[in-house]
Amino acid sequence: MATRTPLIAGNWKLHKDCAESVAFAHELKSAIGADTDVDVMVAPTFTALYPVCEALKGSPIAVAAQDMFWETKGAWTGEISAEMIRSCGCTHVIIGHSERRQYFGETDETVNAKLKSALEAGLVPVVCIGETDEERKQGKTFEVLDTQVKMGLKGLSAEELASVVLAYEPVWAIGTGNTATPDMVQEVHAFLRKSVADSLQKELANAMRILYGGSVKSGNIAELMALEDVDGALVGGASLDTESFSGIVRYKR
Ligand code: PGA
Repeated sequence: MATRTPLIAGNWKLHKDCAESVAFAHELKSAIGADTDVDVMVAPTFTALYPVCEALKGSPIAVAAQDMFWETKGAWTGEISAEMIRSCGCTHVIIGHSERRQYFGETDETVNAKLKSALEAGLVPVVCIGETDEERKQGKTFEVLDTQVKMGLKGLSAEELASVVLAYEPVWAIGTGNTATPDMVQEVHAFLRKSVADSLQKELANAMRILYGGSVKSGNIAELMALEDVDGALVGGASLDTESFSGIVRYKR
């Protein structure tokens, strides 16, 4: 049985300008301290990546971009490459968040292209998947997730897959306060691990970290983390405040 170090990740979305992000990073750095039982990651906006990486130097908090483009350079106005993200000091990148899928035309094909480019640049990708409310009501949850996993992770070597983090975020639970029940979460996470084991390889599936996201807060993190196949959380709203995010990071204490 592989041991999986939990990852607690905060996605700041379109919140906090440069100065606010840096001030918040300093607050988190002292609230979380040097010694954590879990891996911690924050994802500020693109414009705050470099100063936040500088502010968090010497702390265990890793920094991620919220998205990226798959090309490395060229005439792609407005886009940012994996290498540029890495050059800011980032070690992680979120790919395929449902808000990108819903509002900005992200597909499993673009997720796959971004994933390959992220891995080539040495970034740890946090790949988001999840069903909509309608898909769940139609009984299509597992079919949708299976396709997202298989298409999103297609063509990767075992070595590449070893650093991939999956984040299961039911779209209907994001920002709504409606967390999926522990039974629902465990059922899906076990299914995802099996889907990775069947389509890729068993050992890898045991080692892969699968995060849950969708209205996670300090009040529900402990029961989610107690589930066998939950290896951390991707937190939106509750990651924007020092007390609530550090409370989530310290869920064991
Ligand atoms: P939420 O967002 O915690 O505000 O529901 C989660 C996410 O979008 O990653």
